[in-house]
Amino acid sequence: MAKRGPTYICQACGAVYHRWQGKCDACGTWSSLSEEAQAAPVPGGRPAAGGRARGRVFALETLKGETQDAPRITAGIGELDRVTGGGFVPGSVLLIGGNPGIGKSTLLMQACAALAQAGRRVVYVSGEESTGQVRLRAERMGLAEAPVDLAAETNVEDIVATLNQGTRPALVVIDSIQTMWSGEVESAPGTVTQVRGSAQALIRYAKTSGACLILVGHVTKDGQIAGPRVVEHMVDAVLSFEGEGVHAFRILRAQKNRFGPTDEIGVFEMTGMGLSEVSNPSALFLAGRDQAAPGAAVFAGIEGTRPVLVEIQALVAPTSLGTPRRAVVGWENSRLAMVLAVLETHGGLRLGQHDVYLNVAGGMRVNEPAADVAVAAALVSSLTGAILPPEAVYFGEIALSGAIRPVSVAAARLREASKLGFEAALMPAGGADAGDGGGLMLRRFGHVTELVADIAARAPRRDVK
Ligand code: TYD
Ligand code: MG
Repeated sequence: MAKRGPTYICQACGAVYHRWQGKCDACGTWSSLSEEAQAAPVPGGRPAAGGRARGRVFALETLKGETQDAPRITAGIGELDRVTGGGFVPGSVLLIGGNPGIGKSTLLMQACAALAQAGRRVVYVSGEESTGQVRLRAERMGLAEAPVDLAAETNVEDIVATLNQGTRPALVVIDSIQTMWSGEVESAPGTVTQVRGSAQALIRYAKTSGACLILVGHVTKDGQIAGPRVVEHMVDAVLSFEGEGVHAFRILRAQKNRFGPTDEIGVFEMTGMGLSEVSNPSALFLAGRDQAAPGAAVFAGIEGTRPVLVEIQALVAPTSLGTPRRAVVGWENSRLAMVLAVLETHGGLRLGQHDVYLNVAGGMRVNEPAADVAVAAALVSSLTGAILPPEAVYFGEIALSGAIRPVSVAAARLREASKLGFEAALMPAGGADAGDGGGLMLRRFGHVTELVADIAARAPRRDVK
């Protein structure tokens, strides 16, 4: 056995060191190492159980063996069921992260109440709020009558012992994993080792009992789920709950899901009575758009399996600074830099003396390269003052050569646009899966020069004096 000295653990990523150092080599965070009494247990491993030297022989199986499609437990909240891939899988563990106050506890209480009202046993353990506070919230949402089993506890051994009594719960919610502590781990509550140890004990309970477990996780300033990233590897699904403070919309996004698709989103709106589902997000994201101003283009995007239309807004204005500003909300910085470079090189635009601001309306985050064409159109429109036709949607990926490349599932994008009353689509020249085009007028472009020329032709004539 190796000698056990003091152990230093990075509180950001969970890397283990035997000597203190200022910077974590694994994740590059400064001053994140803290001394913890015990070496971290191996993820997924068992606690040392008296040193069993020889292994037990177990039978190996073939891939063709019997499989049972796990019956899923649906909460009856459509947007939540969509993100989990069709409901909760018994024995699975889900981690849900999000900024404080975004509505994690609210959403989970609604899910618990719905399942409890459907006759299932549901346990909600709050480590952050007293039972009184949780009850108050439930009352406010009109859910006080739901037979949810409630507790305000933080010790995992006590929690597991309690859960093992009576009927097996269908769903257990732990709000939040950062407040839990295990007596078997010597570190202080809130440290990486404690969070990992507690998560392990709870996950073991879920796997052996068959109950579905939901862990709530805090996020750090940069949006990562706080504490050990390793918890993310231990669970079956990671969902993040996002939203801008000023907007009432909340977006639940699957980042990892062993039992369903990732990148699927669920859209909610925070109301005085908890979260309500938004089943037609496109209409919501396009509400209140100014159709008579330059610099706005509607992007026909795909989130998971669902088409979503969002407005991309650009502002290109002469700069007063030596180095012009580029600011982006809701899209990637590097992607904007690329589109700008292509527009300068191949589109003949001069943007070196202009500040560029780009915003995705409604607090939405777009991750698709298919938004390139909509971004380029909004930029050219703002620079030239040409108002884009309000009845058109845009999509397509722009290559560094300036070519506009086809993107996937064009037919679904067109159908959604047609459903919302759009009449035209500006899209890539290639690609065959447009279907019947949803009845839209399809205008196809093969290169950014064509797109720029088309938009610039609508620009108001500037009289030269
Ligand atoms: P909460 O679920 O406590 O957030 P989290 O658990 O993610 O920290 O949500 C709290 C916020 O939601 C709070 O700012 C008040 C607001 N809220 C409503 O607007 N309506 C409601 O019905 C409820 C319950 C909360
Ligand atoms: Mg909470």
